[in-house]
Amino acid sequence: MDAHALPDPAGFPARLATAGPAATEALGARIAGLAPAGTVILLYGPLGAGKTCFCQGFCRAAGVAGEVVSPTFTLVNTYPGRTTVHHLDFYRIEPQHDLDDIGVPAILDEVWEGRAIALVEWPGPLLPALGDAPRLELLVLPGATADERVWHLRGVPPLPDGWAQPAGEGPC
Ligand SMILES: Nc1ncnc2c1ncn2[C@@H]1O[C@H](COP(=O)(O)OP(=O)(O)O)[C@@H](O)[C@H]1O
Ligand SMILES: [Mg+2]
Repeated sequence: MDAHALPDPAGFPARLATAGPAATEALGARIAGLAPAGTVILLYGPLGAGKTCFCQGFCRAAGVAGEVVSPTFTLVNTYPGRTTVHHLDFYRIEPQHDLDDIGVPAILDEVWEGRAIALVEWPGPLLPALGDAPRLELLVLPGATADERVWHLRGVPPLPDGWAQPAGEGPC
């Protein structure tokens, strides 16, 4: 499968919009407030959609003190905070690249033992290692205006009904 393929938004039962980068950072911060250690968040969306912006807001609210920069070239950035946050981005990973070499098994063990959180942009290459492990999945797509982004949400296992807003009904 194309490692850069995006999932179909129809498969995401909940959605909301952000009106600019500050609103996306605030969304990340709100979700950080709901995310205990052990949380895995997968972020799908085209380049420039706002995945890293979300992670910056998330990390700040999770107690990360320093600058949060895109791990596009490093593949993994790890930040100490109230909980360790591993920020991964597999956009530039080569097909022959071994996830073991960048410490993915140790990162997943740490998360699954409840000692860290993982935020993963372009998560395609990680999916086989994740299997059916619980996570929140976000798909961010351009909105109606230059600064609007529409965030589609789903969970594994599925989010409780209260999260769901049927696609096509009501405002974002
Ligand atoms: N609503 C919005 N949410 C997030 N970013 C936005 C929004 N509107 C405009 N932007 C701009 O889009 C870009 C998003 O970049 P980034 O977060 O690095 O994207 P990605 O990680 O998805 O490639 C930034 O330049 C940001 O200022
Ligand atoms: Mg990014």
